[in-house]
Amino acid sequence: MASTFVRTSSLRFGGGQPRPAALEHQRKDRWWLSPLLTALGLGSFVVYATWAALQGTDYHVGQLLSPFYSPEIWGHSPHALFGPPPSWLPWPSFLPFSAAVLVLAIPGNFRLTCYYYRGAYYKAMWADPVACGVGEPRDEYRGEHKLPLILHNVHRYFLYGAIFVWFFLVHDVWKALWFPAAGGGTTFGLSVGGLLLGVNAVLLWLYCTGCHSLRHLVGGHCDEFSKNPVRFGAWRFVTSLNKRHQLYAWCSLFSVGFSDVYVRLCAKGVWHDVRIF
Ligand code: FES
Repeated sequence: MASTFVRTSSLRFGGGQPRPAALEHQRKDRWWLSPLLTALGLGSFVVYATWAALQGTDYHVGQLLSPFYSPEIWGHSPHALFGPPPSWLPWPSFLPFSAAVLVLAIPGNFRLTCYYYRGAYYKAMWADPVACGVGEPRDEYRGEHKLPLILHNVHRYFLYGAIFVWFFLVHDVWKALWFPAAGGGTTFGLSVGGLLLGVNAVLLWLYCTGCHSLRHLVGGHCDEFSKNPVRFGAWRFVTSLNKRHQLYAWCSLFSVGFSDVYVRLCAKGVWHDVRIF
């Protein structure tokens, strides 16, 4: 069967006109604003997250652990699951050890392959297309049926990994609620940092639960929901969150980045984690 993808250069634009040149358009609105903000937002996050993940320091203070470094499989903080990095761990000598490097591939690739982010950065980062009715810099549409973009199909597996990581973030929130007591032991309480980690865990849950792959997982391959009301209820719930997937994608991106900034500045002594009660 012939490919359904065609060279758009062979098509005539509406009314028999040739297709517009790159960035050519007749739109009167500020069509460039959305892709510009997307490029700035995503670009800033990627630069900051890469820098923060490579530091390997100032990622914990008191009971607080930066979400970039969770779960801390091996590391030098009290949060490390298996203690300091073992000598047999292959680690490039030119790079300071960082626990974040061991885990960030899961949430990073989860977002990279997210259906919403794909649409957003295809437009904002390589103008494919930059906006509706605006000329593209290339005349061929290859879709996602070839390497490398076909690899986006692994998204569902990163979803499973992200859910696994999310449970550790919830555990971090729980740990953040227990403070050293004056006479020894611990006492229950809440600080601004603990509140931030809690809000971050909720936003990440809203983002993960609205995932298109999860929606297919709970409601796909089911022609008659009436035969399975549990799946129908789950599908409706995921669908209700899926409608705001873009909102939760950005809110959770901001919360995870700001949680790291907060913990980092507290660890450096610039800010102090204020206890609410
Ligand atoms: Fe966005 Fe799965 S589609 S997280």
